Amino acid sequence: MHGNNKSLAELEAAVDYGVGRIIVDSFEEIDRLAAVAARLGRTASVLVRVTVGVEAHTHEFIATAHEDQKFGFSLASGAAAEAVRRILAHAPHLRLLGLHSHIGSQIFDTSGYEVSARRILRLHAEIAREHGIEMPELDLGGGFGIAYTSEHDPLPPKSLAAEMADIVDRECRANGVGIPRISIEPGRAIAGPSTFTLYQVGTVKQVRLDGGASRSYVSVDGGMSDNVRTALYDADFSCTLAGRASNATPVLTRVVGKHCESGDIVVKDEFLPADIVAGDLLAVPGTGAYCRALSSQYNHTPRPPVVAVRDGKARVIVRRETVEDLLALDV
Ligand SMILES: Cc1ncc(COP(=O)(O)O)c(C=O)c1O
Repeated sequence: MHGNNKSLAELEAAVDYGVGRIIVDSFEEIDRLAAVAARLGRTASVLVRVTVGVEAHTHEFIATAHEDQKFGFSLASGAAAEAVRRILAHAPHLRLLGLHSHIGSQIFDTSGYEVSARRILRLHAEIAREHGIEMPELDLGGGFGIAYTSEHDPLPPKSLAAEMADIVDRECRANGVGIPRISIEPGRAIAGPSTFTLYQVGTVKQVRLDGGASRSYVSVDGGMSDNVRTALYDADFSCTLAGRASNATPVLTRVVGKHCESGDIVVKDEFLPADIVAGDLLAVPGTGAYCRALSSQYNHTPRPPVVAVRDGKARVIVRRETVEDLLALDV
């Protein structure tokens, strides 16, 4: 269980359900969680989220291990070591299982993990020396990139795992500690590639650019309400004409949503056939993570359904929202 501001009710529910690992993120939370566990007569197993100071090569809002942000305990300032002391002082209500680091998302090589593993294992070894305990686990977080466009070239999980195991092995030897049980937290690498969003074209407009070239603006029946990643992170997506084939010349196209924001862009740049017209279907791949989860009803736009497809059969698993749904909470 993660979060920089878990409520008391959430912590109580987690301890009550017996959530396997609670990742503590602040000094207040350590005391709060210990009090909850004591009251319920339980022991909570915890990891300490450590800010290792790695600048992941990704957008600022999905990089999570530099110092100046809201998550975790800073390694450099000694806050992480202090968190460990406070957790140990709360035994038997808290059981410290290890350290945790999540450096960001959409990462395509292991260099960031290497730096982060080196720093966090140094702390792991210092804790072993200071407290005479070798923590049994180490969590290196998620962040494994996926292909949203043909420019993205993710590492196969097998080689990624082998490289990370090598890094941990080397750093444990260098620090004179045993190899802890390693866990990782892939999110989008599991959910992202499973899904594409199917939009219907509503309008098509040619816009002249400086220098005389032009760009086709293709507006679809959704946008930042179902996929805010482009607007929020400057994310890149690709897009293809679905539903029919076309031999028309590909032209520079921007696929935009229907909301009252000029930043409401789904796909910034794509070469799509020049004959795209209202009613055509466009498919945007890689939308299984952080799209529906980040969706909204902005401009009072009902959310689309989710359809599962298997062996040539389609099944609605989340129905389309209606106007009644939009108004359901009005008192
Ligand atoms: C702590 C933590 N672990 C793992 C993940 C998953 O990241 P990704 O989907 O990039 O693998 C996130 C994403 O927000 C996270 O906050």
